[in-house]
Amino acid sequence: MTNSAPTVLITGANRGIGLEFARQYLLEGWRVIAACRAPEHAQQLHQLASGCAGCLNTLALDVSVAPSIAQAAEKLDGVPIDLLLNCAGIMGGARQSLGQIDYADWARVLEVNTLGPVRVLEAFRTHLERSARRVAVTLTSAMGSIAENTSGGWVAYRTSKAALNMAMKCAALDLAARRIVCVVMHPGWVRTDMGGAQAPLSPSESVAAMRRIIGALGSADSGKFLNYDGGNHPW
Ligand SMILES: NC(=O)c1ccc[n+]([C@@H]2O[C@H](COP(=O)([O-])OP(=O)(O)OC[C@H]3O[C@@H](n4cnc5c(N)ncnc54)[C@H](OP(=O)(O)O)[C@@H]3O)[C@@H](O)[C@H]2O)c1
Repeated sequence: MTNSAPTVLITGANRGIGLEFARQYLLEGWRVIAACRAPEHAQQLHQLASGCAGCLNTLALDVSVAPSIAQAAEKLDGVPIDLLLNCAGIMGGARQSLGQIDYADWARVLEVNTLGPVRVLEAFRTHLERSARRVAVTLTSAMGSIAENTSGGWVAYRTSKAALNMAMKCAALDLAARRIVCVVMHPGWVRTDMGGAQAPLSPSESVAAMRRIIGALGSADSGKFLNYDGGNHPW
């Protein structure tokens, strides 16, 4: 890593897609700030950090707790962040179909998947503004697409991602004057704890494809809903 290495901040970096982003950006020589709820238990991040001196720092951050986000942003005060990757997310429990909805669980899913990434973007806006690249990517899901919903169910998860898409579209417009590029991206169906063993894509394949797209993002892309392969995803 050189002094001019770009910096990426990743939420949900301790496992799944977030962890794979950390691994691949490290390999490419980026400085990685790996945010997760419990850094002290993030063994795989510690292993990544031990392979290089000072290129990966962990950061305690629970995206559903506003003071946790504020403290994390304060800790990085003055640090330029070239790329913010909002990866943290949850699926919610099984009771997500009409007739059996668990409303407390739905509220929790909205807190983590919708309010969380928006809070993180707001808190780290000034860090992005200090950087050369100024890119914010938030992982959404094809399940948040109203156009593609033909099977129903998963009300909590689907609505959390649909609302997230709208919030990030607003953010793209609100932050255009600050030259911050803001997109939402579907990572594909990926073999993680969330995606399960039947998913066709490995984290490595999904993240490699997304990194290619992210590396080429410019102001004309801000506000887009992108598939992991770079195509525009239907809203
Ligand atoms: N896998 C797929 O097929 C797929 C498809 C479409 C979209 N996505 C989206 O891609 C993103 C990553 O998914 P994944 O497959 O990597 O999921 P995952 O393997 O279940 O990992 C989820 C990550 O989110 C973190 N997280 C959960 N709640 C959090 C909170 N309150 N604060 C901070 N971190 C929190 C988890 O940390 P802990 O270990 O602390 O719980 C973990 O690091 C999610 O936004 C998901 O909706 C995934």
